[in-house]
Amino acid sequence: MTELTKRGIAIFGGGYIGLVTGACFAELGHRVVVRDIDPEKVRILRSGDVPIYEPGLGDLIAQNKERLTFTLDSAEAIHEAEVAYVCVDTPPTPSGDADLSRVWDVVDTLRDAAHLKAVVVKSTVPVGTGTRVRAALDEAGLGHVAYASNPEFTAEGTAVRDFMRPDRVVIGTDDPATARLLGELHHGVDGPVETMDVHSAEMVKLASNALLATKISFINEIATVCEATGADIRQVARAVGMDHRLGPHFLAAGLGYGGSCFPKDSRALRALASNSGYPFQLLGSVIAVNELQPRRAVQRLKAELGGSLKGRRIAVLGMTFKAHTDDMREAPATVIAARLLAEGAEVHCWDPMGRPDPEAQPWSSARRLPTPVEAVAGADAAIIATEWPQLTEVDWAAAGDAMRRPLLLDGRGLLDARTLAERGFTVMGVGRATVRP
Ligand code: UDX
Repeated sequence: MTELTKRGIAIFGGGYIGLVTGACFAELGHRVVVRDIDPEKVRILRSGDVPIYEPGLGDLIAQNKERLTFTLDSAEAIHEAEVAYVCVDTPPTPSGDADLSRVWDVVDTLRDAAHLKAVVVKSTVPVGTGTRVRAALDEAGLGHVAYASNPEFTAEGTAVRDFMRPDRVVIGTDDPATARLLGELHHGVDGPVETMDVHSAEMVKLASNALLATKISFINEIATVCEATGADIRQVARAVGMDHRLGPHFLAAGLGYGGSCFPKDSRALRALASNSGYPFQLLGSVIAVNELQPRRAVQRLKAELGGSLKGRRIAVLGMTFKAHTDDMREAPATVIAARLLAEGAEVHCWDPMGRPDPEAQPWSSARRLPTPVEAVAGADAAIIATEWPQLTEVDWAAAGDAMRRPLLLDGRGLLDARTLAERGFTVMGVGRATVRP
């Protein structure tokens, strides 16, 4: 068997996706230079630290430091590269469209990169972006440099595994030689490669995230009907998921989806459809259900506490958008805390990792406590907003004694309600009847 060529790869964007992609390509044997515009980030990476939390990423970067370097300089990044990967973020704008300015900044810096074989966009972009990048490359005299789309499907917390053992690698290009080149770059990755046209590849990413978001909003609506009718969502979801046509994944009812992808990408796809003259009604409902879900939790708690939250102390346990990440972007917990504060409640919160976003103003008046028991002390109620395993280790009998009122809304179905009720708790859940002592 012939040894496959190891390539030089320039990665633009040393954020979450860029770092995971760069480290994994280095692990596959390629020479990778990651370029970021943030001097502090590059300094941290050069010193051997990792500016984000992602299991396995630090080790992967350390193991491959011979083949993986970091720079602020785009000329240095592309100097020995054959392929340039665009991994910058595409944040939402007020209209819901993705802000592509960082993508265009990278494309601009590639104007002199006539030696490149391909420019590949991994950032999540609206369908049609590839055509515009292609035109910009042509205009810059880079008609011979191929363009491809290679969307990412990695989830935070499992990103390295998702890259190395993906359900599929999607490569969008009309050029067979480029498809072969990118297929070769992924040699060693354990998963099928699907090659298609650029527009379709761009759409796969948006459609996948929208369908996953749809499953979550769907099960959350079923949960609401369960609450009203006396059914139990956990038993319902389990048996529904046993149908192989539906599958067991993404059927956990809760407080709604958050994070850096689902909220942004579902709004971007809705905006893309509207801009094309088609109102994507189903997706609009998925988004509306998700926006309501954390608010509904606060409403239910308010009703249980007699119709007012004014002056009540409420503990919010878990602030990140899911467990095993330090990411609080669009986390349901932040909406819940902000709603509680707006209702006049005093908010005490706990999270083992979450980095409060300095721009998320509502947090400034919430108090952060170092342990769950300290967070619930003196509280009129507690809400579990993130499924941190540490919460299953809490001495809930002691925690209940320390509370003003042992009332718990388990927004993630993490704890056994009956056991807690035996310890004096009233336990509210999503999609099941309230269990009382
Ligand atoms: C997601 C996609 O999984 C990934 O393929 C894509 O590339 C980026 O977006 P991520 O945002 O890291 O990844 O998180 P994920 O684990 O998918 O969870 C998203 C949100 O949905 C979380 O807030 C989670 O709590 C919520 N969720 C997930 C549910 O409420 N119920 C479920 O059953 C599953």
